[in-house]
Amino acid sequence: MVDDKHGSIPPPVSLLAELTHRCPLQCPYCSNPVELERAGLELDTATWRRVLDEATTLGVLQTHFSGGEPTARRDLVDLVRHAAKLGQYSNLITSGVLLDQPKLEALVEAGLDHLQLSIQDSRGDNADRIGGHRNGHAKKMRLAAIVTATRLPLTINAVVHRQNLDHLGEIIDLAVELGAQRLEVAHVQYYGWALVNRAALMPTREQAEGAIDLVRAARERLKGVLAIDYVVPDYYARYPKPCMGGWGRQNLNITPSGKVLPCHAAETITSLRFDSVTDRPLADIWYRSAAFNAFRGTDWMPEPCRSCDRRTLDFGGCRCQAFAIAGRAEVTDPACSLSPLHDDLVATAGQAASGRPPAFVYRRFGNAGASAREAEPVIVS
Ligand code: SF4
Ligand code: FES
Repeated sequence: MVDDKHGSIPPPVSLLAELTHRCPLQCPYCSNPVELERAGLELDTATWRRVLDEATTLGVLQTHFSGGEPTARRDLVDLVRHAAKLGQYSNLITSGVLLDQPKLEALVEAGLDHLQLSIQDSRGDNADRIGGHRNGHAKKMRLAAIVTATRLPLTINAVVHRQNLDHLGEIIDLAVELGAQRLEVAHVQYYGWALVNRAALMPTREQAEGAIDLVRAARERLKGVLAIDYVVPDYYARYPKPCMGGWGRQNLNITPSGKVLPCHAAETITSLRFDSVTDRPLADIWYRSAAFNAFRGTDWMPEPCRSCDRRTLDFGGCRCQAFAIAGRAEVTDPACSLSPLHDDLVATAGQAASGRPPAFVYRRFGNAGASAREAEPVIVS
């Protein structure tokens, strides 16, 4: 519902609560910023509770508890319980390696509605190499069995790229085997850590096109068994995705220290400044902050978006990608074939995907190696 007081700006539907950037995994395409926020900067429990209150008043219906690894927070059960008390639909986005049966049961008892488990590959050795965590895959397989036994709805998230895309058929079969109701297959989006690792992650055009055909056939074959969401590979697309459903239209993201972002990667746009829940009420940030209003609606759009029929379908694509490629967030997403930068983007993809992939640069605090303490598992209370 559009609030009259705020003109045409609708309230947000969902909140991505990044409780922490700490994580025992080190995926080279992590959506967290390259400059990770340290544990000492994290919001405390009382502030997160207040944020959930404010989000509910603002209109948010669902909260996704994410990270880093959200189960590294000792107060996760408390926060899930608070969200449930507010009537929020709660979803846990987890690597799964810190959870066991008692911890999961505590979360379910607190009111958790849904769990999304990330996997790095169908094959354990490659999955552990990509995630930089020994035995991680085996732990995930054990957790999936516990989740389905608990009857908690399960979605498997698989980020795909050059070094696992040839196993996509197996990944789909694995999701069925694990009893998931949904599989999200997302090609890597190249900002932050993934941009650092672009040459190691970029698939070839043949790989990307083969994946589209494979997903199409699997969707048909698995109707009523497994729903498959598919995020296409931007660099080989004809039109861009409607990133985040449009900037400042449906979603907000809060970082571990409290910065409020229109999308998880927004901090890569260094020309914007983001407000914090520690300084300003959430509603004020949503409706009035400069960052949220920067790319709302269509008035900000340049040509060719301004006069394009698709401008209210894809909202000009992704602002973070525009900034990553063009150095300006206000230009048409170069993933669009109508962008003057599109041919350069396609050439970049071809170049990145050719030759031997370089070694991964793994995500680490301070870019110089996470201290053992920061990456250490902290149990859920
Ligand atoms: Fe979308 Fe802009 Fe491309 Fe049109 S020109 S398809 S609105 S990105
Ligand atoms: Fe930020 Fe697309 S990821 S707008």
